Amino acid sequence: MTQVITTIAALRDYLNIYRRGAEPHVSAFSSTVGLVATMGALHSGHLRLMEIARLENSCVVVSIFVNPLQFGANEDFDRYPRSIERDRRICEHAGVNVIFAPNAEEMGVKRQLTQVIPPEAMTKVMCGRSRVGHFQGVATIVCKLLNIVQPDRAYFGNKDGQQLAIIRQLALDLHIPVKIVGCATVREPSGLAYSSRNQYLSAMERELAPQIYQSLQKAHQVYQDAKNQAAFIPISASAIVGVVTNYLANFPAISLEYIELVEASSLRPCEEINLQSELMLAIAARIGNTRLIDNILLSPT
Ligand code: PAJ
Repeated sequence: MTQVITTIAALRDYLNIYRRGAEPHVSAFSSTVGLVATMGALHSGHLRLMEIARLENSCVVVSIFVNPLQFGANEDFDRYPRSIERDRRICEHAGVNVIFAPNAEEMGVKRQLTQVIPPEAMTKVMCGRSRVGHFQGVATIVCKLLNIVQPDRAYFGNKDGQQLAIIRQLALDLHIPVKIVGCATVREPSGLAYSSRNQYLSAMERELAPQIYQSLQKAHQVYQDAKNQAAFIPISASAIVGVVTNYLANFPAISLEYIELVEASSLRPCEEINLQSELMLAIAARIGNTRLIDNILLSPT
């Protein structure tokens, strides 16, 4: 049975008892805690993270908190979907032990608070260009959640590749004793990545949305073809980016915000593909009023 806990004190009590092995079926030595941090409106992408956490830990905590710190003034904080009862049923089904669902007051975000500022090099690219302060809000709340739950492992999706890279760096730089586990992007059969924001799309927009992933796939094919050559001829970033922009030019209702090729772990812009490190080809585009992001990894191996 999934417990819903709304205060930090009650969560700490629960986890303290749990870690001491107070639950009859858990020995103190084998108990590990996995955290899946979310903003709710749970979908199959979140569910995959929970399933992986369930397999790897004896206790799974899912946090649900729509974090005001990561929304800009003109963004969708007020209309962001909230569906706690449905979320609770999904968590129950996935065998989650605890939902941690604090309010803004409990998370201390209403007062001026110490902020975690990610490295500028990681926030001046991709989503950081238009969403000023967004990753500071993400890093601050994730740092707070990691300190509150103190999980052995925390699970994040590759779908938000920039966020994942920044959180990995945060845990490393602040010596937070947690293993950050990156999980592959979960997609609808059409290729569209699951996202809570897909709910904003009209029926017509939804039909168009998979073209975003299609454009990345076209670029991936160019990369694969180059890799399959007997001798690899380096491809320039602009050639790869051009494949995407040319493809999307066929769909004027998709308005491209950015398409960038970066090194996946550092987010350093990549000029040329040379099979030395894992790269991320990342995109943000608007369809109507809805902003969607996606990315693919280009792995040398
Ligand atoms: P949210 O958008 O709810 O996503 C929660 C987690 O689910 C993130 O790690 C995200 O990358 C992952 N996720 C979302 N869609 C996915 C998909 N299609 N496939 C795989 N994983 C997916 O990301 C956030 O919330 C917030 O920024 C948060 C980290 C909770 C901090 O507030």
